[in-house]
Order: sequence, then structure tokens, then C-alpha cells
Amino acid sequence: MYSFTNDWFEKTALANWVKVLPEIRPSRILEIGSFEGASTCYLIDTLATTGPLEIHCIDNWDGGIEHQEGGTAPSDMRSVELRFKSNTEKAQSNAVRQVTLQVHKNSSHRALARLVADGKENYFDFIYIDGSHQAPDVLCDAVLAFKLLKVGGVMAFDDYLWTNELTSKVEILNCPKPAIDAFVNIHFQKLRVLNMPLYQLYLQKLSD
Ligand SMILES: C[S@@+](CC[C@H](N)C(=O)[O-])C[C@H]1O[C@@H](n2cnc3c(N)ncnc32)[C@H](O)[C@@H]1O
Repeated sequence: MYSFTNDWFEKTALANWVKVLPEIRPSRILEIGSFEGASTCYLIDTLATTGPLEIHCIDNWDGGIEHQEGGTAPSDMRSVELRFKSNTEKAQSNAVRQVTLQVHKNSSHRALARLVADGKENYFDFIYIDGSHQAPDVLCDAVLAFKLLKVGGVMAFDDYLWTNELTSKVEILNCPKPAIDAFVNIHFQKLRVLNMPLYQLYLQKLSD
């Protein structure tokens, strides 16, 4: 019933979410990087069964470096955005409980800064970071998103081990890992890394 052109969500996130989401039972969720809405629809389908759900989706629908010509994803981001809209409308219309979906069509640093300015610090139970793969962007997303995460909440990074397979040599600053490592090291007294299989990385906020 949904229209997705790839299986990224099934390959990287699904097995982890099956384990972690029932443990944290989030009701306020922030997603950075929504694409066609595969992860968003899963959240609505599985979590809007027991209580109301508030999901904020940030995406500029410009794509990242992996969506450029020759990359592994479609470069027609207008169609991607339309599929996100139609997929999430279907999920919402099938949901048993109320779903508030707020779409922030913007660069992540601008949307995150706006959420901070709007008083949403310590607000979200679960934050999924799956936007830009470039290290400076990922570091900025991580630092701002952590401010928005509740103490006790869980933040997950997709593509912790991602590299651009099309290039013959790995360009380290085009990968999320150095940014995620720097963020975790600097915030180490405020978080714990969850014991989950690698490729994605999960952490829990212990303090502000
Ligand atoms: C890998 S896709 C997200 C996949 C989605 N979470 C899923 O599971 O199907 C990454 C998305 O991040 C968005 N993106 C990349 N850089 C961004 C930035 N700096 N600000 C906002 N969105 C960005 C892209 O437009 C793209 O839709």
C-alpha cells in the first residue's frame, strides 16, 4: 500500500526498532531525514496503536551527496517528497490513535535551532538522525538534537559505519562516523551507548 523505492529502512533500522521501541514506548518523536517516509510510516503503524503520537520530521528534500548523479538514490527529490506526503497520509488515516505530524521542510540545522528556540528542549522521547552524511552536518545535528532529547530518552544514528562506496577512496569527512565519535566522546558523562549491533548507533541521555 505504501510506495517506497528502496529498502534502506528494512536493512538498517527495522531489526533494531523491533527491539528498542517497545522498551521506550516513545510518544514524542523527532526524525532528521525522512525521504519517502519509510521510517515515519513504521513509527505511525507500530506506535499509534496505544496512545497519541507526535512526530516531527525534518527534511529539506534536497537530498545528500548520495542522492547526486551517479549515487544510489533517486535524484528526483520532488517525487520523493510527494511520496513522503502520500505515504504518511495513508499511515495517518489508518492510525487508531491521534497522530500529530509536523513537517519541517528545511535544512536540519535551521529546523533544529527553531525547535530549541520554540522551547522544545528536553521534549522528545526518541530522536532518529538519518539526514546528511557529511561529518560537519552530523555533528551539528547531534549536538542540537541532544538538547531536544529528554533525560532518559534514546537517540539513534543511522549509517554510523556508512562510506560512499562509489568513490575509490574513503573521504573521512563525508562519513557520519567521525562526527558521531566526537559527539559521543565529548558528551560521554551525559549519555550511555546502548548495547546494540553496530552499523547504527544508539544512546540514552543520562543528564543535561
Ligand atoms: C537516507 S534519507 C532518510 C531515509 C529515511 N529515514 C528512511 O528510513 O526511509 C536522508 C534524507 O535526509 C535529507 N537531508 C540530507 N541532508 C539534509 C540536511 N542538511 N537537512 C535536512 N535534510 C537533509 C535528504 O533530503 C534525505 O531525504
